[in-house]
Amino acid sequence: MSQRRKHRTGLSRLWSYTEQQRGRALVVMLLATVSAVAPVVGWHIVGDVIDAGIRAGDKQRLTVDVALYVGVNALAWGLGTATWLMLASIGQRMVVALRRSLFEHLTSLSLRYFSEQKAGWIIARLTSDVDALSDVLNQGLTTLVVNTLTLVAAVGGLFWLDWRLGLVALLVLPPGMLVTRWFQRTSHVAFSEVRTRIAAVTAQLAESVSGMAVVQAFNRERAFQREFDGLNDANRQANIRAQKLSSVFFPAIQFLGVVATAAVLFAGARMIDADALEIGTLVAAVGLLTLVFQPLQELSELYGQVQAAAAAMEKISTVLDAERDIVDRPGAKQMKRIDGRLTLDGVVFAYGEEPVIKGLTIDVPAGGCIALVGESGGGKSTTAKLIARFYDPLEGAVLVDDTDLRGVQLRSYRRQLGVVLQDPFLFSGTIADNIRFGRPDASDEEVEAAARAIGVDRVGARFEHGLEHVVREGGAGLSAGERQLISIARALLADPRILILDEATSNIDRPSEILIERAFDTLLQGRTSVIIAHRLATVRRADEILVIESGRIVQRGTEQSLLAEDGPFRRLAHTLEPPAAEQLARRAPVLEPS
Ligand SMILES: Nc1ncnc2c1ncn2[C@@H]1O[C@H](COP(=O)(O)OP(=O)(O)OP(=O)(O)O)[C@@H](O)[C@H]1O
Ligand SMILES: [Mg+2]
Repeated sequence: MSQRRKHRTGLSRLWSYTEQQRGRALVVMLLATVSAVAPVVGWHIVGDVIDAGIRAGDKQRLTVDVALYVGVNALAWGLGTATWLMLASIGQRMVVALRRSLFEHLTSLSLRYFSEQKAGWIIARLTSDVDALSDVLNQGLTTLVVNTLTLVAAVGGLFWLDWRLGLVALLVLPPGMLVTRWFQRTSHVAFSEVRTRIAAVTAQLAESVSGMAVVQAFNRERAFQREFDGLNDANRQANIRAQKLSSVFFPAIQFLGVVATAAVLFAGARMIDADALEIGTLVAAVGLLTLVFQPLQELSELYGQVQAAAAAMEKISTVLDAERDIVDRPGAKQMKRIDGRLTLDGVVFAYGEEPVIKGLTIDVPAGGCIALVGESGGGKSTTAKLIARFYDPLEGAVLVDDTDLRGVQLRSYRRQLGVVLQDPFLFSGTIADNIRFGRPDASDEEVEAAARAIGVDRVGARFEHGLEHVVREGGAGLSAGERQLISIARALLADPRILILDEATSNIDRPSEILIERAFDTLLQGRTSVIIAHRLATVRRADEILVIESGRIVQRGTEQSLLAEDGPFRRLAHTLEPPAAEQLARRAPVLEPS
């Protein structure tokens, strides 16, 4: 089943989103069928009015027929309204279900997916592509169902009225099918192109919005404008191509209706001459033809929309079908409260082809603290992400309490993990909301205590509403250091068993850092911690310092022993933080100033 679903990319995939409402769909189908048959019956009555009422001079029959005619069409009208409303609501629920499953799938995808896709491209899938579908499901679904039923009922009614006239009308069917087939083929390409173009526009827009400061600082507004104009224009051209196709298709179908009517009138006239047909039947047949071709025309107009929606659904499917590469093994265990022993056993990892982690073996006892230092791009953040299981290693394993992380339920592990990433992200909401992010049920007192321990209360004091100060998305409106302080408080409040701090204090001023240094004593107490830092002051507290260069550990030991060796660490200490190194040099007589 899942295998089959994977390959369904077109509109048929939407069927699975009707699951909750198949009963309603059945009811609406019944109503729609009745409302489609009613006008067909109406035209039969018209024929009867002419032949058996007017021409035969039967007054009573005339009255009954007219009353019936009005009644039948009134019924069609009432049922038509009900059908419309019910179908629109079904369509809307499908859109909601689709959007929901899209978002759910997105949140389960690994960081790999998000680093490979442009944010704007993903946003376009959730907005403009879903909107294209929504349009069809709103009005289109009604048009589709009602007109298809009307069409079938009218064709059936025509044959029932007079099969010979029915056959004559059907003569236009083969050319109609040819035209439709042509449109289907060419428009699919065109509408697919439209979806791609609109996604490009959205992606460019999203990138410009988030990078506006850099764009302006480097005077690149014009260049960005030119690029945007190009994409915008490509989008316009793709739309025009699609519209050109539609503009040929709809009138062609309309014209086929005229041809069919002419053919029926011509054949009918001959049959009347030969006394093989009554005039009322011919009138009814022409009336029924309008019931065939008007829905056909509306369907052909809808067909363009449906093609657009199918193209949109295909794009949406690329998101829905994106593999979750971080999945719990079958039978993965729930992780109980862990001690926090952390082991990396010969871990190799690559984002692309080239490995960036080339065999890391690290062992941290429960409650221990290691520091990772080293040149930029060496693989420190990547190691942190492997420990947090944002990625799985290519070779080797990450183990916690001697259990391979791939064998435990991810959620039960992450619950015991605190992460402060190198580029902390804050969500729109108050500072307190952001601190509470990892533990939504924490009380106000707990939030305040965490804030005080890290010094966020001093950040809060700068604002009128303190911790209730509203932060904008991404933390805009706060300094980089303030963002870091808040994200550390967030990790502290979550009370994790393993704590990962990636450059958590790099943007924090010296006084705040001293404060945090002190808070670290409580923060790290009884937890396993991995600290990544450039500042010696921060890594000093680690039990062991690992120097990482190009994905390998090149040196390891305590601060004192590392400074005593003439190796990469001492070079780092000098280049990255001369003053601190000098301070150390003064305190550590073993160190010869080089
Ligand atoms: N999402 C990604 N996709 C592809 N390559 C990546 C990705 N993230 C990092 N890399 C590459 O992996 C290598 C290690 O990066 P990493 O971020 O782990 O370095 P780092 O040691 O944390 O550096 P820094 O001290 O600058 O933070 C780098 O060469 C980087 O270009
Ligand atoms: Mg890093």
